[in-house]
Amino acid sequence: MSTNRIVLSLSLKTKQLGLSKSYQHRLSNDWDSRNADPRAFIPSKVRAQITAEVAEQSNRKLGGFAQDFLRAVLNNSTEDDLSRREKSERVILAVGGGKGHDSEWVREAYMVRLRTVWLDVSAVACENLIPKLKEQFESIPGSDPRLRPSVKCAELRSALANPDSVSLDVKSVEIWYMCRVVEIMSVRSVRVVLRQIGKCLAYSPSNRLVIVDALSDHNIGYTGLKTSKLFSLKFLILNLSIGASSDGTRREVEVCQERTFTFFDKKFSALAFKIRTS
Ligand SMILES: C[S@@+](CC[C@H](N)C(=O)[O-])C[C@H]1O[C@@H](n2cnc3c(N)ncnc32)[C@H](O)[C@@H]1O
Repeated sequence: MSTNRIVLSLSLKTKQLGLSKSYQHRLSNDWDSRNADPRAFIPSKVRAQITAEVAEQSNRKLGGFAQDFLRAVLNNSTEDDLSRREKSERVILAVGGGKGHDSEWVREAYMVRLRTVWLDVSAVACENLIPKLKEQFESIPGSDPRLRPSVKCAELRSALANPDSVSLDVKSVEIWYMCRVVEIMSVRSVRVVLRQIGKCLAYSPSNRLVIVDALSDHNIGYTGLKTSKLFSLKFLILNLSIGASSDGTRREVEVCQERTFTFFDKKFSALAFKIRTS
């Protein structure tokens, strides 16, 4: 194959992994409106029957559940994890901040030497996050400026297809965190994203992916809505394992921590995934 054809075929592959600029722009506008809506992220079946205050309290409770679970994962860090993180920058990459309901864990990440980075396609969400992260970081006495949190305004699938475009070093990410993000992406995007993250889990047995979402396994008979899909645990593990095995070595991904929470008519699962080591 000529060099030009190789370059063309590689750039086509990268395009297939990422979304077109116009689609990213549309997603960003859509999510700007949702993130500014006082009753955002509430199942449409009940949205009309509850006040904005109840919506806010309910979102806060689910956010509290998700961030408690994430704190538990962070607190499982070992002495080896800490000494590795002392030596070079290691990151927790959180995706989809929304109104910041699940963003109160900067201190816990800092204590285990992880720098917090949030990524969100919506400028409204990014603007919500910036002061929340700043306040948490500045409340840590003598905080090390190298661990100052940051926010990247970008679409996840496209960022993973081209991490340089958002100055993301995926090899430095030890914990990936997504609450209510998988369920709002297309099946194709979830497949691409999970395979990319699976590849990153394979870099180290201490790397983790934390997903908080409603799964079909615990919501049998759930009729579903236009804007949110229920994936099965099997689908998540399958795609993560495919990604983790993409260098030709067969690896399996497993759940190592799990909790559940009821949110209106759905049961949510908080799951931590890692590479199976034995
Ligand atoms: C349903 S909200 C969840 C917010 C928060 N995690 C919570 O549980 O309260 C989903 C968030 O993901 C962001 N988002 C949606 N699709 C995205 C994508 N493809 N890439 C990056 N962010 C995305 C939205 O802007 C929104 O802030």
